[in-house]
Amino acid sequence: MSNENLQSVLGESRVFPPSAEFVAKARVNAEKLAEMKAAAAADYVGFWADLARKELSWATPFQTALDDSKAPNYQWFPDGTLNASYNCLDRHIATRGDKIAIRYEGEKGDVKTWTFRQLLADVSKLANGLKSLGIGKGDRVVIYLPHSPEAVIAMQACARIGATHSVVFGGFSAGSLKDRIDDTGARIIITADGGNRGGHIVDLKKACDEALTLGCKSIEKVVVGIRTGHSINMTPGRDILWSDLIAGVSDTCEPEFVGAEHPLFLLYTSGSTGKPKGIQHSTGGYLLGAMVSAQWIFDLREDDLFWCTADVGWVTGHSYVCYGPLAGGTTVMIYEGVPTVPDAGRFWKICQDHGVTIFYTAPTAIRALMKSGETFPNSYDLSKLRLLGSVGEPINPEAWMWFHRVIGKEKLPIVDTWWQTETGSTMMSPIPGAMPTKPGSCTQPLPGIFADVVDEAGVPVEGKTAGGYLVITKPWPSMLRTIWGDNERYIKTYFGQFPPTTGPDGREQWLYVAGDSTHRDEDGYYWILGRVDDVLNVSGHRLGTMEVESALVSHPRVAEAAVVGRPHEIKGEAICAFVICKGTRPEGKEAEALIKELRDHVGREIGAIAKPDDIRLADGLPKTRSGKIMRRLLRSIAKGEEITQDISTLENPAIVAQLAAKA
Ligand code: WT7
Repeated sequence: MSNENLQSVLGESRVFPPSAEFVAKARVNAEKLAEMKAAAAADYVGFWADLARKELSWATPFQTALDDSKAPNYQWFPDGTLNASYNCLDRHIATRGDKIAIRYEGEKGDVKTWTFRQLLADVSKLANGLKSLGIGKGDRVVIYLPHSPEAVIAMQACARIGATHSVVFGGFSAGSLKDRIDDTGARIIITADGGNRGGHIVDLKKACDEALTLGCKSIEKVVVGIRTGHSINMTPGRDILWSDLIAGVSDTCEPEFVGAEHPLFLLYTSGSTGKPKGIQHSTGGYLLGAMVSAQWIFDLREDDLFWCTADVGWVTGHSYVCYGPLAGGTTVMIYEGVPTVPDAGRFWKICQDHGVTIFYTAPTAIRALMKSGETFPNSYDLSKLRLLGSVGEPINPEAWMWFHRVIGKEKLPIVDTWWQTETGSTMMSPIPGAMPTKPGSCTQPLPGIFADVVDEAGVPVEGKTAGGYLVITKPWPSMLRTIWGDNERYIKTYFGQFPPTTGPDGREQWLYVAGDSTHRDEDGYYWILGRVDDVLNVSGHRLGTMEVESALVSHPRVAEAAVVGRPHEIKGEAICAFVICKGTRPEGKEAEALIKELRDHVGREIGAIAKPDDIRLADGLPKTRSGKIMRRLLRSIAKGEEITQDISTLENPAIVAQLAAKA
């Protein structure tokens, strides 16, 4: 895949400068950007410290900007105290109390708005309710809600009382929910009866009940919001309605000021092993990164309506729905459902009806909408849009051009933002009024962020077509702090590939390894090629091949499984599983039934997003004599390529013909 990608990006030479009109009003123009980059190059710690003092409201100002004495466990602004919810809400009340903070549309078309004042009141009520359950600083709260303002309210309420939240995407199954709850040791879960998605009800409460029968011994109370109104089970003594919890409580709640390093949230993401990692983010550094990156990249202005379509269950929904824009006093749009209900015009209708000015979505959505034709977007008034964005996976130049032409009417800048759950906020992206864009490139690191391309030995790679590992060479405020409960894994996964070196200042320098391969062109623009580890990117969602394999192997009929990705027109990557059965391998109708059963099983174990697209039953897997599965070979087979690789070192070369014949 990366070779094809490399070919396609190397062939891309189109350059799109921003319009004079955009540049004239831009928050950051080329001059300003050069100034910022020069300041950061001269003193990156001072650069971030200045921003932190200017952009965030501190209860106790910090004296230390960066403490790297325990590198790579970096601490930013460690002796300062602040509250994230205060920064997103309270501090706007004097100047923007009656400004809309959230515009919401449900999948069924219901619309609701919250001003900053109303949002603060609702957040404070829930915060008081949680306090009445004995929840506060040092506790974890799991949030399992539909994509909704209530999810934002729940996150902000936790932040307000110093509780660490962990949002679990509503599409995850009971099993995944249980694993995450057990890992966090949460005392409370905030959920809802259900949500509307794709014309169906997602039965969150049912999944939650099931998770609690599987484990979750730490859970004391389940707070249940009502969204869909369908009938649910309430366990007396354990389950409490959100509305009952806040009945009669005050709508003011003093924010709990916490140290800047206090964990604001944990968010689970996939890695190369079967066990998802609880990525731990800080309060001060995280909020700074989310806020300033949103302002630079999205050129946010007082009258903007910013719509990031990502679910709050993913990091994009944390940084660019819940925290970044609100910290800057920006109005955000939230839409509950899928882009295709009632038809593929839904996103464009929402843009028109609400007057969305900035639209930020994922390449997989762009490709799907592109497939449904131009009539949909052309039927709506998209004239309020002034900026477009993309995130989650490499955007292929074709999709970029469609976005540019059909949605952007060849006028709007597109920001392709590269970042990760671990980085907390965007690391590389165009600054739209300051530089030209190229379709398929996330362009350059933001001011204060330092990236490089290195080879296997960690040595920087030079030259026009040189590719290699993407690394971040200096710590940044919104970086992850650790993996919850496993600091060793944190160091090994992100900083273990290359040994630290000693910098000119005598301090240790560690390279953060992102896990992506990249290429940098003659303008210093980065082109992300894909993952280098066993991680799949399916519709912009990260899934470990091991995770899917473990789910398959947990089925009684499965002896062994190997999972690889293959390119997919809309999803980016599709999941292909090679499965060895226990006992005789079924054929015909029986095989079909088992394959369906296995897909559903993975759906139950992880969630619908992890259901393999293809499952092939076989008698064996291609292994080397030392017993290693030859994944490269499986990837070729999954793509239906002719096998030209040397298979003579395989233990069982005959198996290749069997696997390939099934294509
Ligand atoms: C991985 C991180 C960060 C928000 C959503 C995904 C890929 C993300 C881009 C982009 C090329 C991208 C990378 C990265 N990725 N954005 N603009 N261009 N690739 O967060 O689940 O933590 O996944 O997504 O491979 O490592 P995530």
